[in-house]
Amino acid sequence: MSAPIIHMENIKKHYGNVIALNGVTFDVRAGECHCLLGDNGAGKSTFIKTMSGVHKPTEGSINFEGKPLSFNSPRDAMEAGIATVFQDLAMIPLMSVTRNFFMGREPTKGRGIFKRFDIDTANEITMTEMHKMGINLRGPDQAVGTLSGGERQTVAIARAVYFGAKVLILDEPTSALGVRQTANVLATINRVRALGIGVVFISHNVRHAMAVGDRFTVLNRGQTLGTATRGEINAAQLQDMMAGGQEMAELEGSLGGTI
Ligand SMILES: Nc1ncnc2c1ncn2[C@@H]1O[C@H](COP(=O)(O)OP(=O)(O)OP(=O)(O)O)[C@@H](O)[C@H]1O
Ligand SMILES: [Mg+2]
Repeated sequence: MSAPIIHMENIKKHYGNVIALNGVTFDVRAGECHCLLGDNGAGKSTFIKTMSGVHKPTEGSINFEGKPLSFNSPRDAMEAGIATVFQDLAMIPLMSVTRNFFMGREPTKGRGIFKRFDIDTANEITMTEMHKMGINLRGPDQAVGTLSGGERQTVAIARAVYFGAKVLILDEPTSALGVRQTANVLATINRVRALGIGVVFISHNVRHAMAVGDRFTVLNRGQTLGTATRGEINAAQLQDMMAGGQEMAELEGSLGGTI
């Protein structure tokens, strides 16, 4: 197996008195999909924010391509090749897909005072890159707000891939989607993985994770409970770990059935 692109060791993060992370170890290899599972409030978003330079960990170390590294800003992480598609997707609904795709990184033509946004090139790149991810847009000037949730996720993913991501972090990309759109996003994850990019897929849906994951790490109240490889663990076991086995059993008992 290849060496990890990024290795996070014993990461802790406190917000004042709140201990959001209390020792998380996690790594990602090229071309794999490593799922980070956990219930609401387990610390998933906080963890990937330390991975993408939004927060500095209170404690712990980060190794990127074999060297110790500390990110001072999301820009640092992006430049290293860590792209994040956040839960609250940063897109401007009234602007076109192309504008959202480039967002400040538009290709230009001409020089000096003649320099201007090269809209034709930008449109062509957008259409091509979206097509590669399995989405045929009506046109590049379609407003992002008129896309489905799954298509919007795909714009963000295609954009990250185009700008050279080595690691792509997806924070709950399927949580607000219906069945068909979820299937499309999971297929997109497979395409990204096939390009040799390491994918971190955050979810609290075990079935979605099982559909694409190579490895699974469960977070529970800010701690990792270990990492399992595909085939070593089944959906029921993962579900149990996520909920904290004991509590789940109690909950099932009180509801008189299986959740
Ligand atoms: N900026 C913040 N200030 C204080 N506490 C925070 C902050 N962000 C997160 N927390 C707390 O840290 C803990 C972990 O939150 P986090 O958002 O990482 O969970 P999560 O696993 O992503 O949950 P969800 O599944 O709901 O997205 C929670 O108890 C949360 O209230
Ligand atoms: Mg979250």
